[in-house]
Amino acid sequence: YPKVFIFDLDGVITDTAELHYLAWKKLAEGINISFDKQFNERLKGISRMESLELILQLDTSLLKLDNEQKVKLANKKNEYYLELAETINKEDVLPGVEDLLKHIKKQNIKIALGSASENAKNVVKKLGLSSYFDYIVDASKVKKGKPDPETFIIAADYFGIPYKECIGIEDAAAGIEAINKANMFSVGVGSVENLSQANYLVEDTSKLNFEEIIKKYSDKNS
Ligand code: G6P
Ligand code: MG
Repeated sequence: YPKVFIFDLDGVITDTAELHYLAWKKLAEGINISFDKQFNERLKGISRMESLELILQLDTSLLKLDNEQKVKLANKKNEYYLELAETINKEDVLPGVEDLLKHIKKQNIKIALGSASENAKNVVKKLGLSSYFDYIVDASKVKKGKPDPETFIIAADYFGIPYKECIGIEDAAAGIEAINKANMFSVGVGSVENLSQANYLVEDTSKLNFEEIIKKYSDKNS
């Protein structure tokens, strides 16, 4: 068995990936930029400021904004996000997720959160899942965000577990890249177009099954 599971939050445990998307869209529209879902894939898993930079690149006239103006925009996006996230509750846990958490706990395997979000702790609390997590890595702990492996490394090092014995679960291409770079086993939730690098891929969270993940993990490590 693996010794640690590291879960991404947004888009894996709950559908806040959609709320981040809607908040960025609203912010972008306010400065006359439009982008589609495909572009949004590039924003998944990366920090607030990095996301803003990618969006601003869509309109070269905005590249002259100074840092203060950028921070203002980023704060505004977060206000929009918090408005949308206000009503998050237990019912917003995606299908199959709590079941998987329970299975992992039952086997005495450690569970960590590996999120780039400053709002991660709060969202987990609203979902009523805090007690499942032995350790939380959020934006406050990470210097180099995904696709750098640091987020996942910090979690494994906290428990003192070899990376080979860790499993990461992600919905973002940047996240899968980070897990792979950490030499951990990567589970992707989403489409093969976006997550072709995942060691094991399921199309949505309802397909996340403890035994199946363990089987694929063991096959790879044997
Ligand atoms: C996660 C999400 C991103 C989001 C980032 C920062 O990685 O996948 O879409 O931009 O966290 O979130 P924050 O709540 O700090 O703005
Ligand atoms: Mg995500």
